[in-house]
Amino acid sequence: MTQIQLPKNFLFGAATSAAQIEGGAFLDGRGASVWDTFAGQVGTIADGTTPSVSCDFYHNYKEDLALAKNLGLQSFRFSFSWSRIFPEGTGKANEKGLDFYKRVIDEIHKNNIIPNATIYHWDLPQALEEKGGWINRDIVQWYGEYASLLFREFGNSVPFWATVNEPIATYVGYAQGIFAPGHVSERMGRQANHHVLLSHGEGVQRFRQENIKDGKIGIVVDIWKHHPYRPDNPADCAMAELENEKTYRSYLNPLFHGRYTDALLRYMEKNECMPEIQDGDLEKIARPMDFFGLNCYNRVVDCADENLLEEERKKKHTGGNFQDNGFEFYPKAVYDAVKMLKKNYDLSIPIYVTENGTPGFHEKPDEKGCICDQNRIHYIKGFLYWIGKALEERYDIRGYYVWSLLDNWEWNSGFSSRYGLTYVDFDTQKRIIKESGKWYAKVIEERVIDWEINVHE
Ligand code: FCB
Repeated sequence: MTQIQLPKNFLFGAATSAAQIEGGAFLDGRGASVWDTFAGQVGTIADGTTPSVSCDFYHNYKEDLALAKNLGLQSFRFSFSWSRIFPEGTGKANEKGLDFYKRVIDEIHKNNIIPNATIYHWDLPQALEEKGGWINRDIVQWYGEYASLLFREFGNSVPFWATVNEPIATYVGYAQGIFAPGHVSERMGRQANHHVLLSHGEGVQRFRQENIKDGKIGIVVDIWKHHPYRPDNPADCAMAELENEKTYRSYLNPLFHGRYTDALLRYMEKNECMPEIQDGDLEKIARPMDFFGLNCYNRVVDCADENLLEEERKKKHTGGNFQDNGFEFYPKAVYDAVKMLKKNYDLSIPIYVTENGTPGFHEKPDEKGCICDQNRIHYIKGFLYWIGKALEERYDIRGYYVWSLLDNWEWNSGFSSRYGLTYVDFDTQKRIIKESGKWYAKVIEERVIDWEINVHE
């Protein structure tokens, strides 16, 4: 048994996003987002649900923030709904939308919690999608105007700002079609991603222009490193390498090196999906930030022989161990990512782990009303252990947020995938703190992790 002590000044929190918790989709002047539209189409969401009510945080925010305080959370990560603020995406702001966020931020402070805001967490106003959405280069200005308004309204009451959550979601929505708005074109996906990165740069620039005292700005990127299933097999290695290029490196290289790599450029050339890039774009994308938000859930194991991988999957054996929910348990992923950020990008800004968590597919209260999610406790403990290890080696990680405070609407999985420290009964809106929530509260207080390291982890 190893014991890890996490520092006193290490920030513990939980993360959420507007589209997933707020509901109130058509109240007080809010415009539709692409997710409202997408969820309304048949066959897009696993359980056929929509985000229109979800946790109804729009009405329950006081109770939910009291709950966050009860858990001892030091920080609460949330996002703004662009179409609640600009129902048409641009133009005239909706006062009632701004007022909602003012009340939420006040309430966060009243509970002595530090707000951590994300400007864009996937819910593009539908009105903008109708003008081409992330494919239209004008979006950089649309995004910029929206970000500037938020900085002016809330810059003095929110210390942490993320421009964008997981730029890859835009690729999934424009190239793979399984996220809103549901386009299937590699070319569109790459163009959309370029514009997301450019908007991030625009956001950083506007943040600096507002001269916000004590505020910090960064971006949130998810790193799911691809590993070859057979490290000595050239086809597996090439596959993992290309996937790493196409995923997280396609964001980190422009952000930190101010360029797309030759490997990615070659791939885009060959596959006729090269985005339009103008002079000065990459300098803009690479503007210095104050912190890096790392979302880390797992790794991916690639095998060029699909049959072999399938067989191995059935044996649940791809180089690690597996949880009850079917996902591989690889908590070292966070340590690998932090090390890679230093080694390959010479990262010198602090890292906050802005999301980490694991889903339950069949969670419900037992006879005693308890949600005994030992699986989640084990998972979080493993990740905290590896964060502790990285801290011992002097990597600069300043905080950690569990995804999520509440069970919520999990995009194309709908309500079938529960990630909360708190169980939500979506029929009655009743909340029950899960065993993991009680355990996390204790960790925040004591800052000690006991961990039995397994060879596979
Ligand atoms: C992340 C997203 C977040 C949630 C979790 C489970 O990729 O940022 O909104 O869906 O996954």
